[in-house]
Amino acid sequence: MSQNQKALFIIFGGTGDLAYRKLYPALYKLYKKNYLNENFAVIGTARRKWSDPYYQEVVYDSIKDIKKSDEDAKQFASHFRYQSHNVNDTENYISLLELADQLDEEYNIEGNRVFYLSVSPSFFGTVSSHLRAENLITENGFNRLIIEKPFGTDFINSDALNNDILESFTEEQIYRIDHYLGKEMIQMLLALRFGNPLLKQIWNKNFISNIQVTLAEDMGVEERGAYYEQSGALRDMVQNHVLQIISFLYMQEPESNDSEAIRKVKVEALKDLKPVDNENINTNFVRGQYTSSENNSDILDYISEHEVDPNSDVETFVAGKIESANEDWTGVPIYIRTGKRMENKNTQIDIVFKDEESNFFPIDEVKNNILSIHIGPDEGLSLQLNNKKIGHAFEVEPISLTYKPSGEAPEDYERLILSALTGDKTNFVHWDELAESWKYIDSIRESWEEADSPLYLYEVNTNGPKEANKLLEKDGNHWVWN
Ligand code: BG6
Repeated sequence: MSQNQKALFIIFGGTGDLAYRKLYPALYKLYKKNYLNENFAVIGTARRKWSDPYYQEVVYDSIKDIKKSDEDAKQFASHFRYQSHNVNDTENYISLLELADQLDEEYNIEGNRVFYLSVSPSFFGTVSSHLRAENLITENGFNRLIIEKPFGTDFINSDALNNDILESFTEEQIYRIDHYLGKEMIQMLLALRFGNPLLKQIWNKNFISNIQVTLAEDMGVEERGAYYEQSGALRDMVQNHVLQIISFLYMQEPESNDSEAIRKVKVEALKDLKPVDNENINTNFVRGQYTSSENNSDILDYISEHEVDPNSDVETFVAGKIESANEDWTGVPIYIRTGKRMENKNTQIDIVFKDEESNFFPIDEVKNNILSIHIGPDEGLSLQLNNKKIGHAFEVEPISLTYKPSGEAPEDYERLILSALTGDKTNFVHWDELAESWKYIDSIRESWEEADSPLYLYEVNTNGPKEANKLLEKDGNHWVWN
């Protein structure tokens, strides 16, 4: 297969922040690496009335820090056209079709189309049915629909949304983005688990004590208060990124490395999660909201953020103890923690191995072996071992073996767009995964409501409410990362 991909991208939400910050730079990187060269074009659509030259300037601006040369960036931007578009207006799709066909011919694209929906989910159904009705879906090339989150607000709603889209596109044609699946270190997790006989032997309840997953952010909700009020940390981070990571951690070894085989074991792992109910919710999950503090009086409370209800009880932090009902994992909880306005930006997975009585050392002198996967902002691995302290005495001390990848890893969106172009669905979320994860999230949300669960305030620039630490302490554990 030639490396050069032929495709026409039609981006709904072409004036948006995501397109500017992520999509255009990702397309440019693919262009520079020759995955896209002469046979591609992009149509950006949104309500605003922009001209082609203005749109091309925006695209040019979005790549200013990574461009190789001015000329090159302009050449890239010349592949972009803009059309002001009302998603409900049939006439607009008819002119979109004309433009699409014209670009298809001009760039010799052979009918391959990628429809990118970076708009509110309430438009997913409308846009996809118009794409079908107004014949934007071609007969001669591939047609792929990339969808950004949030994919619904609960299981019922996302099921309805999905059925709407399925009227016009098949599951095979739908590429649901979770940008965590495009991260280098998330992919490395699979290589580690299944490429190392050493790790394969000990990746189970006999050797692992617990796993800790942290997705901490130092930023607040910024300009996204209105969205965040509807989502909270549970829908924004746990439903997608955290549960995807959990499925990789708990899943069995797939029969092969093809996307179907991987999806099958991921879905099984999600199905195996122990249900949450109003009996166990308050012992297993903690919700929090950030509040300003004396030391950080220049940072706003969540409830003072732009477009946030001053009485909001939306959570900006979630910690929880997640367990699998699969007997291979009995007694191995995964503790999760994610929040805004925490001390540092840090995304990390810590696999804490069991300690063991030893005739050689008293148990309190040796530390647990811990394998840490550093997902971001620093990428790498570290393994905590016990070693002899240098000197005359025979004393042990913990040491850390570390690995930092060298070379520039492709960015998440770059990788995911290329996968969509080549038809590789491994790093996209299948409906079956989404359905299971929504059911689990619904059970947490409903239990919070039924049990009238408290919302703990935590000061900005801390690692969340202290109640989150108690989740681990009662099991005799503590957070590896603090
Ligand atoms: C997004 C959330 O999915 O992930 C944001 O909507 C969050 O609220 C972001 O900031 C975090 O992604 P990353 O890659 O910076 O960890």
